[in-house]
Amino acid sequence: MTTGPVKLRPEILALPAYRQGLAAPEGFKLSSNENPFDPLPGVLEAVDAASRRLHRYPDAAAPEITARLAAEWGVEPDEVIVAAGSVALLMQFTLAAAGHGDEVVYSWRSFEVYPWMTVLPGATKVAVPNTADHRHDLDAMAAAVTDRTRLVLVCSPNNPTSTAVTAAEFEGFMAKVPADVLVVLDEAYAEFVTDPAAVNGRTLVGRYPNLVVLRTFSKAYGLAGLRLGYGIGPAEILAAARTTSVPLSLTDHAQMAGLASLDRADELRARVADIAARRDAVYEALLEQGWSSIPRPHGNFVWFPTGERSAEALEIFRRHGIVARAYLPDGIRLTIGEAESVENVLAASDEIARAFG
Ligand SMILES: Cc1ncc(COP(=O)(O)O)c(C=O)c1O
Repeated sequence: MTTGPVKLRPEILALPAYRQGLAAPEGFKLSSNENPFDPLPGVLEAVDAASRRLHRYPDAAAPEITARLAAEWGVEPDEVIVAAGSVALLMQFTLAAAGHGDEVVYSWRSFEVYPWMTVLPGATKVAVPNTADHRHDLDAMAAAVTDRTRLVLVCSPNNPTSTAVTAAEFEGFMAKVPADVLVVLDEAYAEFVTDPAAVNGRTLVGRYPNLVVLRTFSKAYGLAGLRLGYGIGPAEILAAARTTSVPLSLTDHAQMAGLASLDRADELRARVADIAARRDAVYEALLEQGWSSIPRPHGNFVWFPTGERSAEALEIFRRHGIVARAYLPDGIRLTIGEAESVENVLAASDEIARAFG
């Protein structure tokens, strides 16, 4: 009998564990791109009603929320996939499309889950550097597609840089990518976009045989704690991604909360408009403080390209009661949160601007 450590996959052991945005025991937690508002009216009641069925498994097919989203998007129910967060869907699409030796192309820096979920099925990461102004380089991404590419991820607005891909850029990109390569447009922050030139998955539905659009209830809808995300795309692609799901991981609570939230479209719009207006005001104030390097934000967060001095900048935010998130050695991402946080944010950013010259 041999002894020794259990044999595990070396590429998995080499992966860093998922790091969550830090909590803020005192002060404002602006480290996880969460929504500062309470759940929309009707959500707590819907969750409470679902709780009475806790001894039962959820309905794995999630028929109600699926039918509702299909109606909202003007597609058939089999062109909608729902899961416990869009991060679960990202994983499912990767597993469905890419295996050992296949390539997954994405922009970098972008959502930190992309490299991680590429490694899990044994696929190869192809990270295409962002442009100098922190945007996706879609020409370079299209050029990075080879006959081994199985998945290309486009994130707009991009987490963490908050830049958006334009509709024209995206269409040009889709024209270059072979139709047998899956493209996932990750629009976790789409609801906060106010720029009419930005890409919007809603206008793309039904136009491409290889495009899936991902959305989530975690950000604008404020249901991060319940886990509900969805994808819209061609039925055959979604069917493959359903096969790679963890069965029964989407709770009835999440489905019911999603339905209740969709009933409150007006309140949702008002909240989103509030955050987008606060974001724009913060950005203008940052420009006045001399932060010309910050890209115009399109999500509910702002990117400070503080580079090697990001740890120092993070500490200055912390001293002002703000917990932001550092992406070393590139910069800091700061969520637009409560109105009351803005004064502290701008005091900290002013101090950083002065200290860094
Ligand atoms: C770009 C992007 N996509 C997807 C997600 C996943 O969101 P969720 O799993 O909460 O739906 C996030 C969350 O931070 C994100 O930033």
